[in-house]
Amino acid sequence: MDYRPRPEDRFSFGLWTVGWQGVNTFGAAVREPLDPVRAVHELAGLGAWGVSFHDEDLIPAGTGGAERERIVDRFTKALEETGLVVPMATTNLFSDPVFRDGGFTSNSRRVRRLALRKAAANIDLAARLGARTYVCWGGQDGAESEAGKDGRAALERLREAFDALCGYIREQGHDLRLAVEPKPNEPRGDVLLPTVGHALAFISELEHPEMVGVNPEVGHEQMAGLNVVHGVAQALWHGKLFHIDLNGQRGVKYDQDLRFGGGDLREAFFLVDLLEREGYAGPRHFDFKPPRTEDDAGVWESARACMRNYLILRERAAAFRADPEVAEALEASRVGELAEPTLGAGESLSSVLGEREADLEGLRARGYGFERLDQLATEFMLGVRG
Ligand code: GCO
Ligand code: MN
Ligand code: MN
Repeated sequence: MDYRPRPEDRFSFGLWTVGWQGVNTFGAAVREPLDPVRAVHELAGLGAWGVSFHDEDLIPAGTGGAERERIVDRFTKALEETGLVVPMATTNLFSDPVFRDGGFTSNSRRVRRLALRKAAANIDLAARLGARTYVCWGGQDGAESEAGKDGRAALERLREAFDALCGYIREQGHDLRLAVEPKPNEPRGDVLLPTVGHALAFISELEHPEMVGVNPEVGHEQMAGLNVVHGVAQALWHGKLFHIDLNGQRGVKYDQDLRFGGGDLREAFFLVDLLEREGYAGPRHFDFKPPRTEDDAGVWESARACMRNYLILRERAAAFRADPEVAEALEASRVGELAEPTLGAGESLSSVLGEREADLEGLRARGYGFERLDQLATEFMLGVRG
């Protein structure tokens, strides 16, 4: 196995990931700004397929007219030279102090109108560069105190924003879908739509729910103490996994954005197993931050490792699924039996009501063998089997 990324693996990176200068709450920048054109060339050299961006990652705030066009042309030329595509773009509705109380759900109506204009402008650029997904992450849309934010009104305004953006995309004839990215907290004390489940419920209230899905981030579900594999499985079940942000996180704490494979390696294994078995065809997008300890070389090393870890886990998961002993253990654990409908063809609940279980003691006594199965999975993960 060479674990070399290929375009068909659909690995993509945000400009803001490899371009992160390391500014955090306590520390100043540790790395120089990264020219987006250099990012494109480096990522292509590593075997990535796509690059994504916030409006301001590509076009500094306040840039207009001819300079904006010059930047877009230069970027487009780099894409043409390397074959990299833009599968997704998103709006920065968090850095500018004007968004200190959020974008689409700021208490200030003027700020909300500004946020809509900013999103629409970048939606046009995303469509022009060929993106098919537009991510909406409202990191500043939240609160520190219930006193200052009417949660119900905030959801109304968020619905209004999504309906307006979907209407705009339809009017413009863009071939673009929106993806909500949930996050439980950070930068706000509590962020609106904190988990995949909240986002899915929200989407069902929209005027065009078919145009909106989710962009789960591994670490964000884990920050809420949730199982990201189950969250992604539910998004798939609803037909709503439009995009995914792969990274790593260690438990319930600040958003670590570790490289994929850092953090909870077991969940990473089962997540890759799920995406591959379900035939998820969207981008495998890495949204990580190379730690502040790294210099420029370390940035590219960690980007390379995200893809390499995905490929290693994909190979490990495939070996696990192909193994006869695993097949036998899955059978013993009755994993496949869960796919069988509880009621047979033509049956209703009344068919069950008349039944009596013949061997209740036997059912009580029999274990499920999950420990053996999970140990097998662990040994495949660790590479001592298959
Ligand atoms: C985070 C988020 C962001 C968003 C991105 C898209 O780490 O808090 O993942 O990185 O994905 O800004 O808008
Ligand atoms: Mn994150
Ligand atoms: Mn993200």
